[in-house]
Amino acid sequence: MDGGLRLLDQTLLPEVEEYVDLHTIAEVVDAMKRLVVRGAPALGCAAAYAMVLELPITDDAEIWLTQLKKNARELETARPTAVNLGVGVRLQLQMGHGLMASGQGDPVTWTEQLVQIAQAFHFADQESCVALSEHAQGLLFDGVSVLTHCNAGALATGGIGTALGPLHLAHSRGVRLKVYADETRPLRQGTRLTAWELARHGIAVDVLPDSAAASLLASGKIDLVFVGADRIAANGDVANKLGTYPLAVLAQRHGIPFYVLAPGNTIDPTCLDGAQIPIEQRSDEELYDADPQPKGVGVFNPAFDVTPAELVSGIITEQGLFQPHGAHQSLWLEYVESLNA
Ligand code: MRU
Repeated sequence: MDGGLRLLDQTLLPEVEEYVDLHTIAEVVDAMKRLVVRGAPALGCAAAYAMVLELPITDDAEIWLTQLKKNARELETARPTAVNLGVGVRLQLQMGHGLMASGQGDPVTWTEQLVQIAQAFHFADQESCVALSEHAQGLLFDGVSVLTHCNAGALATGGIGTALGPLHLAHSRGVRLKVYADETRPLRQGTRLTAWELARHGIAVDVLPDSAAASLLASGKIDLVFVGADRIAANGDVANKLGTYPLAVLAQRHGIPFYVLAPGNTIDPTCLDGAQIPIEQRSDEELYDADPQPKGVGVFNPAFDVTPAELVSGIITEQGLFQPHGAHQSLWLEYVESLNA
């Protein structure tokens, strides 16, 4: 393919809005690891598009398929917790096999078809964001205050966002709302990205240090907690940005509903519970970014943590609101079962 993948470089936000053009799989993998593009659904969309990079212009179907498989291998592990990334990759691999087996067309037309499939995947993510945002509207009322963590907005998806999607939608309909955004150490997705995204849409937002969430929740100022997810296990345990689990514990302590918002393809029925979710470990440098790391000092820097299903008031997807724990658990289990089919 001649073209490249154009991405807004999220590492430069909010100071600089700059796009990067990527032409190789190595460049895309590097961009994913550095969080130029980030957020599980956005990683899925980027991966689906990236799968066509470096596909050769050739008559030889085997050469074409070999490159497609190589692309899949290299992309799939770039961010191991974000399940949508693998969904985008495997969709394209499966489609590539199918096109080849069909006996119709040639590698050049197959590549064009894979671009269209990536566009459809991207469009489906946009639709999921809107649908799940509609399902969440009943939870929002005029004057509502919502606490969120990390960035699960338009920057993190192909559409209007998951945790932030309902807020964008409600705001566009005249609902007055206030958002409190955790800073989200160490990479500060809250301070840099959520604050930027909400402020540019005119949504009132205050940023707080992660460690202030306890006193904020205790203060009675928060009505709801909305977060996204990187991978949801079959039992409803949720992997999301490090610091989500303590928020869920605090929300329960203070009787504040804690909702997870994600497209259905963030649910991984092959992970039976949270213990089976792979958790990405990040580098020491992310903590010691400004300061020298003293000799002999180690670092524990997982990118995500797992919130047990019992702390989750509801999981909202494009199919509606589900409760993985308690009286309505069977509806959740039926839903997960339908994803297996
Ligand atoms: O490390 P990041 O910035 O990719 O982590 C992102 C999150 O944890 C998001 O909450 C999650 O991917 C959902 S985005 C709709």
